[in-house]
Amino acid sequence: MTVYRGFVADTPDDPFTGAPLRAETDAALLVRDGVIVERGSAATVLADNADEDVVDLEGGVLIPGMVDTHVHLPQVRAIGGLGMPLLDWLEHRALPEEARLADDAYAKGVATDFLDGLARAGTTSALVFGAHFSGAVDELFAQADASGLRITSGLVVSDRMLRDDLHTTPERAYAESVELARRWHGHGRLRYAVTPRFALSTTREMLDACEQVVRDVDGVWFTSHLNENPREIETVNELFGPGYDDYLDCYDQHGLLGERSVLAHDVHPTDRELQRLAATGTVISHCPTSNASLGSGLFPMRRHLDAGVRLALGSDVCAGTGFSLLKEGLQAYFAQQLLAGVGVPLTAAHLLWLATRAGALGLGLGDEVGDLSVGKAFDAVWVRPAEGSTLAVNLQHAVDEPDAVARLFALGTPGDVAQVWVAGSPLL
Ligand code: GUN
Ligand code: ZN
Repeated sequence: MTVYRGFVADTPDDPFTGAPLRAETDAALLVRDGVIVERGSAATVLADNADEDVVDLEGGVLIPGMVDTHVHLPQVRAIGGLGMPLLDWLEHRALPEEARLADDAYAKGVATDFLDGLARAGTTSALVFGAHFSGAVDELFAQADASGLRITSGLVVSDRMLRDDLHTTPERAYAESVELARRWHGHGRLRYAVTPRFALSTTREMLDACEQVVRDVDGVWFTSHLNENPREIETVNELFGPGYDDYLDCYDQHGLLGERSVLAHDVHPTDRELQRLAATGTVISHCPTSNASLGSGLFPMRRHLDAGVRLALGSDVCAGTGFSLLKEGLQAYFAQQLLAGVGVPLTAAHLLWLATRAGALGLGLGDEVGDLSVGKAFDAVWVRPAEGSTLAVNLQHAVDEPDAVARLFALGTPGDVAQVWVAGSPLL
């Protein structure tokens, strides 16, 4: 058994319903077989366990492993494409890079870069948009299995409006998805997610094939994009036509909404869509740096909360500008500030909740990870800035624990992540 001692901060209860941050400057966690078995003040836990190894996490902050609910595997090498709205950015920046993953050797290097990027940013669980090529997705799963990260992913499928080399057929999409799910779904910490790229690039027949995979493979997840950009939404409405109420209805009519469904963005929802998201328990992955970078808009968080829609956070690399969910939390805060009058005033507790426990709940991992309570796996991140760095100076001058966590979100980067554990095993 090991005792981890330091400044521990987490959010076991929802700040959106008024719960406070839980933080203690000199706390300790006793971990046995990767699970937290005791938690308390350092004095108490150390006195109870005088013979156990102690890992002293002095300086910095220990937070739960972060949970990224929307991030793209094939885009890790294409971050920073600025100045284009969604559809132009896809054509000129994202899709040419995604086509390179047809080459298994290239895909192997990308998977390594991608999983490294997650771990170094302190992300321990993620719902990952895979590649359009089953070899690349198989490679991601194999490397994820070896890494220990909690990864849910799948083959991205599309049959129109991208580029020919990224298209497939509904029959082939079904066969390859089922085969990947058979190999990886439920294997260790891995799970399969049925992943049509977005309604714009999938015919009704392709969505039928997706529905069939969801029906045929027990417990699989579903993920896609929703209401990101006005031109995208207009095109989806034209393609699907009058038989469909709106963008969300394209997924809904094909049986693809529910508590294991996660849709990214939803920057421009209708009230009907919000009601339907809430009624089905579908999760929205809010991707703040992506929304800002592509000029997609300011996320209407208040309307989502009022409607009772489940929310979590996504980095959306590479429209998003990096893997750090600290940065996403800060940008979520900025976006709400800019929505003068109708924004949600987010506190440090909200940001930590969104980056950790909200994601764990959104991905159905709430019983295992997302906070550092007794009974949870020790998935944790030690943010320990270099001595003399502006973050270190600011942590020293924090007036209280919530202020320290606010400074962490304001200034923390992957460069400040000193160690990351999944179920008690260090990743760095
Ligand atoms: N919509 C369809 N594909 C993508 C993608 O790769 N990134 C984003 N942000 N939106 C999308
Ligand atoms: Zn995306």
